Amino acid sequence: MGEILVSQFSWILGPKPEDMPETWKLRISQLFKQETGESYTDSTFNMLKIPQWEGNRLLIDHQKYPSPDSLIGVLWAKQILQDRVRIVALVIDNQHQGEGLGSRVIEDLFSISRAIERNTIQLEVRVSNIRAQRFYQRFGLNIHQTIANYYSDEDGYVMMGTV
Ligand SMILES: CC(C)(COP(=O)(O)OP(=O)(O)OC[C@H]1O[C@@H](n2cnc3c(N)ncnc32)[C@H](O)[C@@H]1OP(=O)(O)O)[C@@H](O)C(=O)NCCC(=O)NCCS
Repeated sequence: MGEILVSQFSWILGPKPEDMPETWKLRISQLFKQETGESYTDSTFNMLKIPQWEGNRLLIDHQKYPSPDSLIGVLWAKQILQDRVRIVALVIDNQHQGEGLGSRVIEDLFSISRAIERNTIQLEVRVSNIRAQRFYQRFGLNIHQTIANYYSDEDGYVMMGTV
């Protein structure tokens, strides 16, 4: 009998943010606060309007599932205009950054975008978040414009690229 090896981490399809259990919303708010400094309240979850599709993914540590602690990453993207996918949020728990997990989900999102003929990817990032900018630049995204005071305490860059 062969042994079945199952990867400990996987990006599963997520529910609509507003339909998540409260304990999971809390865990996500904690992740965003810790990794980006952004505060997500209940009304943020309701406003996001992220549908159920391959651009709505939760990174799960299967060893901890179903505890809310098993949730170690989020990708929320949506389809906008005729030709675009906008990444609304991408965050990975710092204990698991630099392990290739972010690259894995971005590559997946890009190939899905290509398949549905949405060839432009767009996102906003803090001017000070050089690490994330470098991360996206490796996938062909470039700084497109600066938006003054996009964040409550800082300017933002719009990054864009074609897939
Ligand atoms: C940016 C982010 C999503 C990247 O995901 P990740 O899983 O850490 O990235 P990967 O492991 O796939 O790629 C890491 C590469 O990006 C860089 N990198 C980005 N963040 C890093 C981190 N915290 N630690 C180590 N390397 C990091 C490295 O140069 C690395 O290059 P390498 O693969 O050649 O070593 C993730 O680090 C994160 O959640 N950061 C905090 C939140 C944030 O800034 N989100 C983006 C705002 S829009």
